[in-house]
Amino acid sequence: MTIKLEKQTIEVFKALKKETSDEVLATEFSEKLGLDYIVLMSAINELKKHDLADFEEQEIFQISLNEEGKSYLQKGLPERQLLEQLLKKEVKEISLQEFLEISDFDKKLFYIGISYMKKNRWIAQSKATGENKIFLIEEEFPETELEAFLKIFRDKTNLNYSNLSKNEKKYVDLLNKRQLIKKEKKTQRIIFLTEKGKNTKLSDIEELHRISKLTSDMITSGSWKDYELKPFDVTKQGPLLKGGKIHPVINMINEIREIFLSMGFTEIRGPIIESAFFNFDALFQPQDHPARELHDTFYLENPKEADLPEKERVQAVKATHENGGDSGSTGWGYEWDKDVAKQTLLRTHTTATTIRRLAKFHKDNDNMPVKVFSIDRVFRNEKVDKSHLAEFTQIEGIVIDENVNLCDLIGIISEFYKKMGFEKIITRPGFFPYTEPSMEIAVYYDKLGEWLEMGGSGIFRPEVTYPWGVKNPTRVLAWGLGLERLAMLKFERKDIRDLYINPIKWLREESYK
Ligand code: PHE
Repeated sequence: MTIKLEKQTIEVFKALKKETSDEVLATEFSEKLGLDYIVLMSAINELKKHDLADFEEQEIFQISLNEEGKSYLQKGLPERQLLEQLLKKEVKEISLQEFLEISDFDKKLFYIGISYMKKNRWIAQSKATGENKIFLIEEEFPETELEAFLKIFRDKTNLNYSNLSKNEKKYVDLLNKRQLIKKEKKTQRIIFLTEKGKNTKLSDIEELHRISKLTSDMITSGSWKDYELKPFDVTKQGPLLKGGKIHPVINMINEIREIFLSMGFTEIRGPIIESAFFNFDALFQPQDHPARELHDTFYLENPKEADLPEKERVQAVKATHENGGDSGSTGWGYEWDKDVAKQTLLRTHTTATTIRRLAKFHKDNDNMPVKVFSIDRVFRNEKVDKSHLAEFTQIEGIVIDENVNLCDLIGIISEFYKKMGFEKIITRPGFFPYTEPSMEIAVYYDKLGEWLEMGGSGIFRPEVTYPWGVKNPTRVLAWGLGLERLAMLKFERKDIRDLYINPIKWLREESYK
């Protein structure tokens, strides 16, 4: 029966048959054939499949010269180099000190050389004259046995220690003591023909044409029958495709959106360019409130002024600031200025957006409860660093309903964080000019064992809701939470800026999770 083998494998098989010894070393054989080691071994594996050849593995100690050893192979051992310097100068005796100075060896190497010169009985040393001197005591200096052995490395870079003779081992040990060699544990492969391999004649073998692609020509002409298809490993992992992916922060926003929708909320959006009226005044923040100041708020030149809502409503807001209006409060007791309220700015919080929704409540004759949320950009004039951004995102929401209370608020917020994977939250008293009571919210982060501040919440004060006709027992629960803080925890980023400067490595990892 004929055996079909690839061309390369046939070549290797022929070469193996030609070998005089039964076994060959894979590394040497690949060198001899001028064949890449991997190519050789894959040919052997193919022969093995047909039971024509096989290989065995052996652990060996491989010996080679280290850098210093290699330099001596070229220039001679230090003792030989020193000797040659003397011979060149035709010096038969010299003081050690002088010799050290004229040799370009460092002190350590110099004394090593001298000691081997003595061991080789090339020189003698004497202090008879008071000076430490050396004398050449020979006329001829034939190659030492060690020097002769060293030359082996001219032909072979590596020696297998266990294959060396007793004598050779002695010299390797000597070189080892002089720290001129490297020893490495290696696995070596020994290749041999099997009985079947030895008995198989070359005429029993036919060349196999293997291909990895079929062309339409091969199919129409029928020539495909002459080829064998290369097998494919369908379990192998394909290359990683680095296509465009949705940014992790956008994914997270979508997840949050799904959570609020599933809790029966509706999404609202509001303008990024806001009036001071909705950003501050409608939220009962006095016109001299520090947060309004330039260091915190980006005011705009263009458009310079915003329109205010209907006169009646503006009037009601003005009244709450000046004297409390009908909210039962005494207000801030200052003269409210319409022009300050008309100033334009980049909204500093999305509470401006939820207050706009509240303002529509009566106008639209809404049914209760009104449950809305917004996930949107806000802007503050802050110095950007690893925990601050000048542009960030808030997760905001309100519930307008009769007789709702703080427990409902805590319930909604905990439910949201729970769905995001944060089981533990804590609320603590806080202050905002527009809520009473006010709560700060922190979530527990297991990995750090710390509580992390996430944002604020509370029940809108009557001063905020009354101007829009939303009155007791109808109340408004409100919250505004940071998104990027949460993203840092979720994505384990230590620098908040990473979320937006797009470190490509992280983005790739994140999108393949
Ligand atoms: N607007 C507040 C902030 O930006 C958060 C907040 C929203 C507080 C609603 C109370 C109620 O920090």
